[in-house]
Amino acid sequence: MKLAQGILFTEKQIQQRVEEMARQVEKDYEGTPLVLCAILKGAIPFLADFMRKIRGDVRLALIEMKSLVDGKHASILFTSSLDLSGQHVLIVEDIVDTGITLDYLLKHLEAERAPASLKVAAFLDKPEARKIDVPIHYRGFKVPDKFVVGYGLDWRERYRNLPYITWVEPE
Ligand code: IMP
Repeated sequence: MKLAQGILFTEKQIQQRVEEMARQVEKDYEGTPLVLCAILKGAIPFLADFMRKIRGDVRLALIEMKSLVDGKHASILFTSSLDLSGQHVLIVEDIVDTGITLDYLLKHLEAERAPASLKVAAFLDKPEARKIDVPIHYRGFKVPDKFVVGYGLDWRERYRNLPYITWVEPE
């Protein structure tokens, strides 16, 4: 696979959209303390921009997930220390593709961590690839059914550092 020539979203478009998402979050939570629960590693650039644009009481939790090879299951590899019980939690995800990872995490957090509320902010949404219906309360952009990279998203751990979104295609 190689990097495509085109750009789906520029750095400027990304910053503008993340700003809009942050304003919406501020409006909806109206000063209620919020825990951003980001999924490693892909959500790191989105998290860093998003959290700095949200004015208010924001805390941070990090979770590393693994989507298993059979494509049907997900598991949790790492959770940072922060008590989520009774907290208003907003999951920060890079992309929702099949929905399997997010579905697993939502069910896990509801069952094990008893948050006061649980919502989802996904920077990208690939609706054509969805296998499980999952809620997305704040969405950055919809993307076509391509393998997108950049702004945290990788192809075999590469391209996470690109400041824009592009895709990979066969050589
Ligand atoms: P899911 O299929 O919705 O469970 O997505 C699982 C994870 O796969 C996402 O959190 C991403 O880390 C990764 N992923 C899915 N689609 C893409 C893509 O187009 N580019 C890069 N990573 C992706």
